[in-house]
Amino acid sequence: MPSETIAIASDHGALELKNALTEDLERRGFSVLDLGTDGPDAVDYPDFADALASAIREGRAARGVLLCGSGIGMSIAANRHREIRAALVHDNLAARIARRHNDANVLVMGGRFIGMEVAKDCLAAFLDTEFEGGRHARRVAKLS
Ligand code: RB5
Repeated sequence: MPSETIAIASDHGALELKNALTEDLERRGFSVLDLGTDGPDAVDYPDFADALASAIREGRAARGVLLCGSGIGMSIAANRHREIRAALVHDNLAARIARRHNDANVLVMGGRFIGMEVAKDCLAAFLDTEFEGGRHARRVAKLS
């Protein structure tokens, strides 16, 4: 859905991955809302997860991508926001299941844990996979 805006943010642990995935998103025709970080200086991942959650809550982005060294901190921080369903994934299958079963609206990956091509594959799966609804809709509704 190339008219969609995707927000993206990382800490210093995944800056190279953020830049590569931003290029991928733009190449596919998505509008990208880049919320930083922009340089190698150490920053605090909760600040970026909070900024991305706000962007989704306020309708400035439909979905998001969060990246940090492991992906763990970003996923914990993002899931403290009621409207966020953030999925930390390491492969294509998890990315697809996160969409099909959990209607994940934020994809999380660890820049120090995942290879570049696998990360791009996960992003493509996240973007291209629809939520199945049905019994999963009842469960997802209970999350928020
Ligand atoms: C930063 O060094 C690192 O702690 C962070 O990127 C992330 O892995 C936290 O979960």
